[in-house]
This record gives sequence, structure tokens and C-alpha cells, in this order.
Amino acid sequence: MYYFIEPMVEDDVPYVQAIEQQSFTTSWSANTYRREVRNTQSCRYVVAKASGSPPTSLSKNGGVPNAQRTGIFSQLVSTLLLGMPAQLTPQATNPIVGYGGLWVTLDEAHVTTIAVDPIHRGRGIGELMLNTLIDHAYELSAQMLTLEVRVSNHTAQQLYLKYGFQVVGSRRRYYTDNGEDALIMSTDSIHTPDYKNQLRDHRRHLFARLQAQSKP
Ligand SMILES: CC(C)(COP(=O)(O)OP(=O)(O)OC[C@H]1O[C@@H](n2cnc3c(N)ncnc32)[C@H](O)[C@@H]1OP(=O)(O)O)[C@@H](O)C(=O)NCCC(=O)NCCS
Repeated sequence: MYYFIEPMVEDDVPYVQAIEQQSFTTSWSANTYRREVRNTQSCRYVVAKASGSPPTSLSKNGGVPNAQRTGIFSQLVSTLLLGMPAQLTPQATNPIVGYGGLWVTLDEAHVTTIAVDPIHRGRGIGELMLNTLIDHAYELSAQMLTLEVRVSNHTAQQLYLKYGFQVVGSRRRYYTDNGEDALIMSTDSIHTPDYKNQLRDHRRHLFARLQAQSKP
């Protein structure tokens, strides 16, 4: 199976909500998603799609949203994973298997949501989306990333720890469904040579993993 990333569009929202319902106990309305997708000034939302064959029919930027080809992730994804781009692939043949997003205020990129279809978890898709979102954080001139995560959500915490997030605080009874606390996890500056080197290393490993998985 091949996985690739595209910008979320309004038509994706029902598919995104289907994954959301399997991933979270509370959900956003379709209107909330549409509003976020339209707010291109400060928001970036992406979907991960699956393809049974090499996704040769991707947008010109190699599947990375918004035609930003200057980021290191864009370059790597184009050359290592996706091959030569051509035209857009119809959604019907490439189902959405994950989604995520962030919004930026001042110099802070807030990861608002990220989820992978349960049957596609553990294959690098969550990491692929987080990588894309980090690239968007650079594009939007963010200095650091932050998010909230349930105290009990160790899987997501591991993903965030891997990408330099650290626990910097908590919000008491943040989640209204069960009154669970949230951990606030944030990165230091994403512009330091150390952070960029770690990011590059993680990306190389991720693409090697995704390439290995795609072999028959
Ligand atoms: C969190 C989530 C997005 C991860 O996506 P995924 O595609 O399954 O994860 P990946 O395969 O990309 O794994 C990336 C990293 O996540 C962590 N991770 C993934 N699955 C894990 C597991 N079962 N146990 C512990 N860590 C895990 C690891 O750090 C992993 O890196 P590694 O492979 O080098 O160990 C996914 O589990 C999910 O959708 N969960 C439900 C929604 C959710 O909780 N979202 C986060 C809200 S804050």
C-alpha cells in the first residue's frame, strides 16, 4: 500500500468525520471543518490517502499541499516516496485513511487534530501527517509547535515525544466527555540546527519504512 498526503478540501469532510468518529469520543461539526479548511491564512489541514499502486498521478508538488516545494519534507517526499508527479488522483480510488491539521497564531503552531483510520494505524501514516504539518508550521513562520493530548493517550504522546514535543503543563478536566486532564506538549524552537537535523533523520527513516512497506 502506498500512502500520500493532500490538502484537505471541503468534499473530504464526510470521510474525515468517519475516521474521527472511530478515533475520538467527541467530534467537530462539518461546518467547523469547512471553516478551518477555508481559513488558509492561519490553518492547514491535510488528508492521508491510500493507493494500491504507486501514486504517479499526484499534483505537481509531489502531493505536498499548497505547492510549497522549498521545505525539506517536500523535497524528500518528492524524491524518495512519490516518484514523478502528474495529475490529480480521484478520491474514489484513493480512500482517505487519516487527517490532521494545525492553526498558527503569532509564532505558535497549534496541532488541533490528527487521526488515522484504525485499520491503517502503525504503518507510519500518523508520522507522515505530522511531518507534513511541521513543514506547514515552517511555511507559516511558526517558531514552535504545541498541542493538547489526553493524559491516557500514550500512543499519541510517543509520537509527539519522537518529534521533540515535551510536556510543559496540563489543563485540568480539559476533556468534557470524561473530565480527563490534558497534557500540554510543546517543542522548543523548530529553527535550531538540532531540531532540523533530528527532523531530517526521522524523515529519512520514515520514508525508508514507507518504501519498504509498499514493496509487494
Ligand atoms: C496517534 C496516531 C495518530 C498515530 O498514528 P499511526 O499512524 O498509528 O502512528 P505511526 O505508525 O505513524 O507511528 C509513529 C510513532 O507513533 C508512536 N506510536 C504509534 N503506535 C504506537 C503504539 N501502539 N504504542 C506506542 N507508540 C506508538 C511511536 O512513537 C511511533 O514511532 P515508531 O514507529 O518509531 O515507534 C493514531 O494512533 C491515532 O489515530 N490515534 C487515535 C486518534 C488520536 O489519539 N490522535 C491524537 C490526538 S492528541
